[in-house]
Amino acid sequence: MKVAVVGTGYVGLVTGVVLAHLGNDVVCVDKDPAKVEKLRNGIPPIYEPGIEEMLKKTIEDGFFQITDSISDAVETAEVVFIAVGTPPGPDGTPDLTAVRAVAKGIGQSIRKPTVVVNKSTVPVGSGELVEKLIIEAGADPALVNVVSNPEFLREGSAIHDTLNPDRIVIGAKNQAAAQKLVELYSTLNATTVITDLESAELIKYASNSFLALKISFINAVSRICELSGGNVEDVAKGMGLDKRIGSQFLQAGLGWGGSCFPKDVLGTVTVAESLGYDFALLKEVIAINDDQTLNFVRRLDARLGGLAGKRIGIMGLAFKPNTDDIRDAKSLIIIEEILKAGGSVTAHDPIATELVRAIFPTVDYRESIYEVSHEADALVMVTEWNEYRHLDLQRLAKAMKTPILFDGRRCYKK
Ligand code: UDX
Repeated sequence: MKVAVVGTGYVGLVTGVVLAHLGNDVVCVDKDPAKVEKLRNGIPPIYEPGIEEMLKKTIEDGFFQITDSISDAVETAEVVFIAVGTPPGPDGTPDLTAVRAVAKGIGQSIRKPTVVVNKSTVPVGSGELVEKLIIEAGADPALVNVVSNPEFLREGSAIHDTLNPDRIVIGAKNQAAAQKLVELYSTLNATTVITDLESAELIKYASNSFLALKISFINAVSRICELSGGNVEDVAKGMGLDKRIGSQFLQAGLGWGGSCFPKDVLGTVTVAESLGYDFALLKEVIAINDDQTLNFVRRLDARLGGLAGKRIGIMGLAFKPNTDDIRDAKSLIIIEEILKAGGSVTAHDPIATELVRAIFPTVDYRESIYEVSHEADALVMVTEWNEYRHLDLQRLAKAMKTPILFDGRRCYKK
């Protein structure tokens, strides 16, 4: 099938490359000339395991092309994906500026029946908005079908998740448009849920909010454990074995961050508010998450008898392992709090160091955890990179001023 994907961030690029890998003719579009140039040479602008190899192969086999022209890509495509960013605006409501601009560009270029797919996470009602903008830009209404097809991939395992989705959600106004996507995804063999536009848009927000809620719930339980002497890992295990609850996303620790959960939970709250519903439960989910990180720093402070003059080694900066993404990373809050309290920070991350250096230039970035441990008053595990799981703890302890490790991700046995 001929497919266009507008936007080459995590969602757009992974979608484009995987669809090309499955044998479709894919043209990706990005307005950033530097990104286009890189992609043309087979270099992905994001870090994601496996993407570079798959990109190079699909270019070589002639299934993947890149352009900066929406019209070139749209004119030949049967299906056009909108996969541009929807960052939170000042009040937390997703900012649809990029989606609007792309819808306009698509509307100016449609010449034959086209299914336009909202892949970006957009508030309920956006499908209707995109259709209206496309038609206002000049497209013949009879040629346009807008479909919602939210993305559930996780960074760090994006290719695997796209090839093996738990479900494919398709929200459409008519069967023919939905069937076009069913056909596109037919080789994936996944359970498909076909709904109206609004329900599909809500499935994405409700899913991410629910997962964040699960993590905040277990983190709240971890606080009762701290106060009572219980072990939250055992509690999570005992709860998770109940099939109705399930064991995933019950890992207590520093809390949730990243490019999706913070934006989508807040987005759900603000969108609900605009519709007239006060989603107080989710406001508390956010509050628990914020306090979880600050409580961790308070405990570090208490253990060290104050942070002023102390040297703290940070293990991991990315918001989670296998990505260089630092959006809403817990490392940023922890570093800020330590520096504010008069402490100093040394830090290591396998790939995200340069991005954090731009925010905290005074932090001492090192090539290895062993260097970070040198003369440290404490080490803090923030991102559970695999390479941190097999460290020589004796060697670390010897290098440190005091051998204290605060494990924010429960990587080590006490
Ligand atoms: C998430 C959703 O999982 C994905 O479906 C959606 O498309 C995008 O948002 P992602 O942000 O890549 O994916 O990472 P994920 O693995 O879900 O982790 C999110 C955050 O929750 C991370 O900060 C992680 O450290 C934290 N987390 C996750 C926990 O604290 N405990 C857990 O048990 C699981």
